[in-house]
Amino acid sequence: MEAAKHHEENWEDVFNKALEEANIKPEDIDLVAYARGPGMGPCLRVGLKAAEEIAKLANLKETVGINHCIAHLSIGTLIDNAKDPVILYVSGANTQVIALEGEKYRIFGETLDMGCGNFIDTFARLLGLGFPGGPKIDELAKKGKNFLELPYSVKGMDVSFSGLFTHLKQRIEKGEKNKEDLAYSVQETAFSMVTEVAERAMAHCNKEELILGGGVCCNSRLQDMTKKMCKQRGAKVIIPDFPLLLDNGAMIAWQGFLERKNKSKELLLRPYERTDEVEVNWL
Ligand code: FE2
Repeated sequence: MEAAKHHEENWEDVFNKALEEANIKPEDIDLVAYARGPGMGPCLRVGLKAAEEIAKLANLKETVGINHCIAHLSIGTLIDNAKDPVILYVSGANTQVIALEGEKYRIFGETLDMGCGNFIDTFARLLGLGFPGGPKIDELAKKGKNFLELPYSVKGMDVSFSGLFTHLKQRIEKGEKNKEDLAYSVQETAFSMVTEVAERAMAHCNKEELILGGGVCCNSRLQDMTKKMCKQRGAKVIIPDFPLLLDNGAMIAWQGFLERKNKSKELLLRPYERTDEVEVNWL
């Protein structure tokens, strides 16, 4: 798999650069954390192997494996001292609304098929915009003037993008040419869907903070929409800076620090781990 190969070829350079920037040596590291899941097995295995090698260099016998989705929530919580937030986590592969209820991080809503980011990237390819399409769609949408009615698919607390994608594909094949209006309408539709679910989770759980996480949350229109929704509710929206919105090493390290008492000699991966399977013993 290409992504795993890329990780394999690059992790040592990234690690050495991080040491250089922090001006420390491997022996100065006192805790090593890695993402045990969810994610693609081959990529997670590279991370695990890197964690194992770094732990050896640092003379550490134990490491801590953490849940990737919860790490997005924790880094957002850290940057703005959130008390009890809901997270809207929208990335290529993931689209979830998560909050702490009954001592577990529960998924209140999620995509039933493709992640919102994958949907937008695939749509961008249909328009011939290349990859990654998200930032280009964001720019194109600003020039859109007419809203085109598109399938709006919220089912209970979940969302679905595959029907919307098929509709767009057929529309483009039939000759729909106005890329600006299409991009504008796609953003209005898809982001309204995820914002609606996030709002209902906040109302249901009586929570007053929303954290954005995942690369799609860099989108200016999604940020606008969630800001407006939170303002209307008298709630606070927390948007981490660009590098912390995307997948990043700092969030894995911070979650590892929070869970330092869970460190173990056992290295394990859980590619399909759901957030509500994680025992929350660090709060
Ligand atoms: Fe992520």
